[in-house]
Amino acid sequence: KTTITIVDNLSTNKSSYTQAVDLLIKGEVVAFPTETVYGLGAIATSEEAVAKIFEAKGRPQDNPLIVHIGSKEEISAFTHDIPKLAEVCMDMFWPGPLTLILPLKPDTLAKNVTAGLQTVGVRMPEHSVALELLRQLKQPVAAPSANKSGKPSPTKAEHVFHDLAGKIPLILDGGTTGIGLESTVIDFVSDTPTILRPGGVTKEMLEKVIGQVSVAKSTDHEDAPRAPGMKYAHYAPDSPVYLIENSITKVQQAVKKIHSEQKKVAIIASDLFSQIKGDYFFSLGKENQLGDAGHLLYQALRNCDETDVDIILVPVLSKEGVGMAIMNRLEKAANGKWFHI
Ligand code: TXA
Ligand code: MG
Repeated sequence: KTTITIVDNLSTNKSSYTQAVDLLIKGEVVAFPTETVYGLGAIATSEEAVAKIFEAKGRPQDNPLIVHIGSKEEISAFTHDIPKLAEVCMDMFWPGPLTLILPLKPDTLAKNVTAGLQTVGVRMPEHSVALELLRQLKQPVAAPSANKSGKPSPTKAEHVFHDLAGKIPLILDGGTTGIGLESTVIDFVSDTPTILRPGGVTKEMLEKVIGQVSVAKSTDHEDAPRAPGMKYAHYAPDSPVYLIENSITKVQQAVKKIHSEQKKVAIIASDLFSQIKGDYFFSLGKENQLGDAGHLLYQALRNCDETDVDIILVPVLSKEGVGMAIMNRLEKAANGKWFHI
């Protein structure tokens, strides 16, 4: 049975956390909100506890987890030789949506956290509930997104319940998450700092602070998977997603064509496209508001699964700033498919 406990986002009610802390210490898993998406946590030093995460999510064993900490001092227990630029990023962006890949101190964390790699991904989340939980626990917590593997990450407690009810004992409900997309993952083990997964901390923000940053192409991962998670199908609703040119006329033509084949179509786009007569419309907010689009994207993808739609159209967005992260997730959700008209 899965309990949902509503927690005070101002974290004044410390007793709400006792249940979660007790479960984690006992080696159980707990879902909790972060500023990006909901995570499914377990004590990072317990192989048995961490195994429960993989089981509940149906996650492939070779995909490593991010380790969450409540204070910077904790990292010296399981990392070593931290590069200067990594230090600068921690000081600048923590707590916040930035995961750093650092050298792993051998035999410190459970092997299944890092999937046997010599590196570890670490971040300090900026959500009051996540921070309060981590600070009461005083131990690192391994936590992937709290969705069923392959589905969009959860931005509400209800999404976690939908995917994992009956498989986990507790969900801390802190409302809807702010950013709505997973953290930026940046590799500090390679020669040039390299973004493996774009997110809320953008390339532009990073370069202002540490100079040149590379971005790993998604296709890099087929030869040498650097963020092993990137090679799996991701963020995908049940029906196929197609990217389409950002043009009202093109989308109108596409809808006509789809209807002529007796199929139903959903459009996920800014409000500018709401006038188009598709079968379903899920808003990404006002035009050119990329922050809103990131915040609403996974909810919109999940909404499609509650419909009888045959095909999902998404007009492409700008890749500027957080747009890079949004388009990265959309390209994966579409598995590269384009609707040509
Ligand atoms: O915002 C987030 O990062 C959320 C919240 C819960 O913190 N977590 C999250 O975790 O998105 P997950 O497991 O869904 O994604 C972790 C990503 C995967 O792409 C994984 O392959 C990569 O980080 N990763 C983890 N450890 C790594 C490592 N040592 N080397 C390279 N990539 C790593
Ligand atoms: Mg995930």
